[in-house]
Amino acid sequence: MCGIVGITSNKPVSVSIINSLRKLEYRGYDSAGIATLSNGFINEVKSEGRVEKLEKNIDTKNMIGSVGIGHVRWATHGVPNKINAHPHSSESVSVVHNGIIENSTNLKKNLVSIGHKFKSQTDTEVIVHLITELLKKNDLKESILKMLNQLEGSFALAIIFKDHPDLIVGARRGSPLAVGYGPNENYLGSDSYALKSMTNKISYLDDGDFCIVKKNHVEFFDNNGIKLNKKVLKLSSNEENYGKGDYKHYMAKEIDEQPITIKNCIKEYIDNINNDINIYNFPWKINDISSVTLIGCGTAYHSCLMAKYWIEELSSLDVNIDIASEFRYRKNRFKKDNLYIFVSQSGETADTYAALDICNKNKMKTASIVNVIESSIARDSNFVLPIHCGPEVGVASTKAFIGQMLVLYILILKISYLRKEIDKNLYIKKIKALKELPELVEKTLLTESKIQSISGTFTEAKGSMFLGRGFSYSIALEGALKLKELSYVHAEGYPAGEMKHGPLALIEDGIPVVVLAPRDEYYKKTISNMQEVIARGAKVLLITNKSKEEIFSENIWEKIEVENTSNDLFPFLITIPIQKLAYYAALKKGYDIDKPRNLAKSVTVE
Ligand code: G6P
Repeated sequence: MCGIVGITSNKPVSVSIINSLRKLEYRGYDSAGIATLSNGFINEVKSEGRVEKLEKNIDTKNMIGSVGIGHVRWATHGVPNKINAHPHSSESVSVVHNGIIENSTNLKKNLVSIGHKFKSQTDTEVIVHLITELLKKNDLKESILKMLNQLEGSFALAIIFKDHPDLIVGARRGSPLAVGYGPNENYLGSDSYALKSMTNKISYLDDGDFCIVKKNHVEFFDNNGIKLNKKVLKLSSNEENYGKGDYKHYMAKEIDEQPITIKNCIKEYIDNINNDINIYNFPWKINDISSVTLIGCGTAYHSCLMAKYWIEELSSLDVNIDIASEFRYRKNRFKKDNLYIFVSQSGETADTYAALDICNKNKMKTASIVNVIESSIARDSNFVLPIHCGPEVGVASTKAFIGQMLVLYILILKISYLRKEIDKNLYIKKIKALKELPELVEKTLLTESKIQSISGTFTEAKGSMFLGRGFSYSIALEGALKLKELSYVHAEGYPAGEMKHGPLALIEDGIPVVVLAPRDEYYKKTISNMQEVIARGAKVLLITNKSKEEIFSENIWEKIEVENTSNDLFPFLITIPIQKLAYYAALKKGYDIDKPRNLAKSVTVE
């Protein structure tokens, strides 16, 4: 989704801006642009498509401005083309914007009536004309304040000014924005990834704040223009390794990294010697929690659904799950003894953040499970549990899904033990089983060649289904989501037992159906449902576990057997083939696997 970079320095900045925009490519975008100030003029270059294309259009020898802004755009208002790409500029200002200006139509009407001419279809362009107009009668700070007061919606902004050639103004409402500090230069970025290659010292703007960034000095203000002091935070590492190594795609690398990321996460939370789980600084008494609500979007929501089954299996806690975009607008009944858990890889998803904000405003107990520990969701929840899986670049989440499930499982295990709902023997047995997981996932990755050879069937079919019950149900949903995201063919995840209430009508000769049926307590029921789809002509790929026990069903098209583990840990293993299936299906079609069309990694608009 949209990303912002700004740099003010004593040397030309265009190359550094392009490099930072590359770091933001993981977010998903459709056009890019840059503007710098040189010799009293705004020099703007934009292009549809990738940063690589933008770079080819820039004559960096002549783009010598030492103050500049850059942007990658994910279209909301107006088609993705060069005109609608950011920055948007007048003769005196240039603006990049993340978010949506909800009252842009009204503002535009007023501005047009006093003679302003618009070039693009974007909501962002109103900001350009508004600030240009205000600067005619006000000084810089007054103009910013008046402009911010007129804008409705959510935004992060970076603005440069022809008449103030030494500074960038940043402003935040809703969408995140950070300031970075470097030697003789300072930066603005929509997230810490954008800044990590240049600095590890950053400050975050809070909602309503704006800032004036000069190369040796940064000033912060609240929405009344009152000066603020900001904490300078140190990022965990200066430059993380984003390389693809020998892999063709980040997604392939991130799937294969899972045994290591699971191992790292287990190391963070499990005391190997005592076979205990360490969750430090949990801020509440365990008996003060009698129910849990888990909230997320997309893949993160599927990990919440998984957690519901584990909570019900291991404890007597009441549990609800919710999609963040639904939760935030519903009339919720807030309960003091409820723990609200927000699950998000990026920690910046606008809907999940808004749901957290509502809970915070109602003084609820809030915890988050995130990958990016400097993110807004992590910073604003009462308690954070990181998933420790390292940067995830592929837009379609893979290792973060496994990481989210893992941390949720660990947390549930600990809470159930503290609530005395599982005894010490079972607790230790489950911890020991968890420690075997990296090796089991490693072995399951070896099913790859089989998946690769059958993936074509899924891309040629007009659609496919993924079925599961119990612990396998959320993985069925995740399998269908992954296939849709990457190969652009319709896929549906369904509870196997629910097929007879409608979707069975879709089954016809040759339609591929993935049946997730490890030999757990749901196995026999799922196999019956499998027979029902086979009887109607479906080509079934059965994903189960290794066993000597025969499968009483004829005409199974293909079978993949994962390793053996305890019933509640099968979800980790059966996830591997469905991730690989989506990857190879997309590869067959030649699609942009790491950046699927229309999708974004960090969804900062609602
Ligand atoms: C986007 C991504 C998904 C992700 C979802 C939630 O839609 O493409 O892969 O699951 O956002 O993101 P989060 O960062 O909150 O986990």
